[in-house]
Amino acid sequence: MDIVVSEEIDPGFIKCVREILHHEEYQKLTGYVQHKNSTRFMHCLNVAYLSWQMARKMGCNEKTAARVGMLHDFCLYDFSEKTEEALVFHHPKVAAETSQEYFEISDKERQAILAHMFPLGPLPTSREAWIVSFADKLCALTERFRIQIALNKKKRVLVGMA
Ligand SMILES: [Fe+2]
Ligand SMILES: [Fe+2]
Repeated sequence: MDIVVSEEIDPGFIKCVREILHHEEYQKLTGYVQHKNSTRFMHCLNVAYLSWQMARKMGCNEKTAARVGMLHDFCLYDFSEKTEEALVFHHPKVAAETSQEYFEISDKERQAILAHMFPLGPLPTSREAWIVSFADKLCALTERFRIQIALNKKKRVLVGMA
């Protein structure tokens, strides 16, 4: 499967996530439904893009924010197979382990992945972790209820699969 990225999207974002975006194992996330109306792949891309934009505006490390956004739900199993409790508390650990298996991630990135479900999980310990935790919740809402926000609308057009 090829990921098609329009020339119009900010190349700075793609540069931060290219390694992850084009990885064969990571692309398996296209096969999992998430938040009813999205795939896990698109959800993570949404979170990564929003996190990257927020990090830039706030003077944080945008590459860390983008990478953590991409990896925060990197779980290669169907969430509906798990109980809600197992899902909420367990999947950040699985995402961190899977991320470590396929990519070199820093301690800061690992902690941010583990903390993305705050307050139903550990306290974020970096500004980038707070950003991703917030972006995850906002993207989950927009995906679930098909709320069109400008950011969402734009990037869905700009990044697709062939
Ligand atoms: Fe998650
Ligand atoms: Fe998520």
